[in-house]
Amino acid sequence: MTSFNRRKFLANTGLCALPVFIPFSSILGNDSHFNNSPASDASIIKFYGDGEMFEPIEYLNELQKAHKSIPLIGDRYGSGGVVEALEKRMAVITGKEKSVYMPSGTMANQLALAVLSGENTKVFVQDTSHVYRDEADAAQSVFNKRLMPLAKDETYFTAAQLENAVKNLSREEVFKSGIGAVSIENPVRRTDGRTVPLEEIKKISAYCRNEKIGLHLDGARIFIASAWSGISVGEYASYFDTVYISLYKYFGASGGAILSGPAVVIDKMAHLVKVHGGNMYGNWTNAAMALYRLEGFETRLQNAIKTWDQVITGLNKIAGIQIKAIDNGTNIFRLELSKEIDGKKMQESLSKDFNIRIPRPNEKNQTQLTVNETLLNQNAAYIINSFNKSIQTR
Ligand SMILES: Cc1ncc(COP(=O)(O)O)c(C=O)c1O
Repeated sequence: MTSFNRRKFLANTGLCALPVFIPFSSILGNDSHFNNSPASDASIIKFYGDGEMFEPIEYLNELQKAHKSIPLIGDRYGSGGVVEALEKRMAVITGKEKSVYMPSGTMANQLALAVLSGENTKVFVQDTSHVYRDEADAAQSVFNKRLMPLAKDETYFTAAQLENAVKNLSREEVFKSGIGAVSIENPVRRTDGRTVPLEEIKKISAYCRNEKIGLHLDGARIFIASAWSGISVGEYASYFDTVYISLYKYFGASGGAILSGPAVVIDKMAHLVKVHGGNMYGNWTNAAMALYRLEGFETRLQNAIKTWDQVITGLNKIAGIQIKAIDNGTNIFRLELSKEIDGKKMQESLSKDFNIRIPRPNEKNQTQLTVNETLLNQNAAYIINSFNKSIQTR
């Protein structure tokens, strides 16, 4: 990460888009009260991140709990034990022939696109996608693919835009190197978790199938899209050849990914993961955590959304507080405070006095609240009262 400018990244992307490798304490401020929470972690509400992210000791405790419901059997180089159990479970959820554990989402995306493309070099992607902007040009430099960005700064491209781009190529370029694959990220991290409309996905899928172009879903957060849109993960996956799902963004694992798809693609992955140095001896800590927390996840998230609906209604009745949904959004909301409210003090009081963590409001007294299952650690009335009591005027 030596060439990575963290501050610039944060400024460019907004808090919602935080990559998880940035410690949250650096965003929330290193106030001493942060480490001196009066209540246990089980009562903390974190309005950032897509789900639970455990500290090391909590992680061990959670795995102890996991062991009571799923025997913690290790893997060897990704074979057997909980890794295999997770792969089987994910294949069922996504409705695909097979799933394979991957050390990272980046590798899952890159290998899926490389295999789907075969000898063809062009891969169409959203301009705002992780594949295009955040994978260090791996497609170009490692996999000999030319990424073709569509829909500059937008959440998604339409089927018509894709078709036009493909059609125009025959006029614009003399040498035909062929369309390899198309990738869609949903929801889109860089546009505050906005989703790609299902109708557009259907049209793109029909077009790709007709043209025999492989279609990949970067579904790092597809469970989030599913919870907020009501469209099942299986339905989303059905329009794609391959689907990647993150294990750490909301399933609590400390890393890892699952790639699902047809056997003819997935069976190539073990070898390719090894070739690219990603074949690790033990992967069970990630797989066990994800397998354990996957159970009941959808119900917990639905309950969190129900609680959140009550919370928004309550918060929007408080003078000086406004919560706004993002158009076509998922779990990220805008919190706007009137200028009379001291946003920094409010954030500190929420944390110290009520165990509610929010990102610090910016100079406009605005911030983003990300809804996740930690919301279930308290009821709606507690959260609304806490915000009310934490208001301090300037
Ligand atoms: C949409 C999306 N795709 C892929 C990735 C890559 O995942 P990993 O960090 O496991 O490489 C991320 C991670 O931030 C992401 O947000």
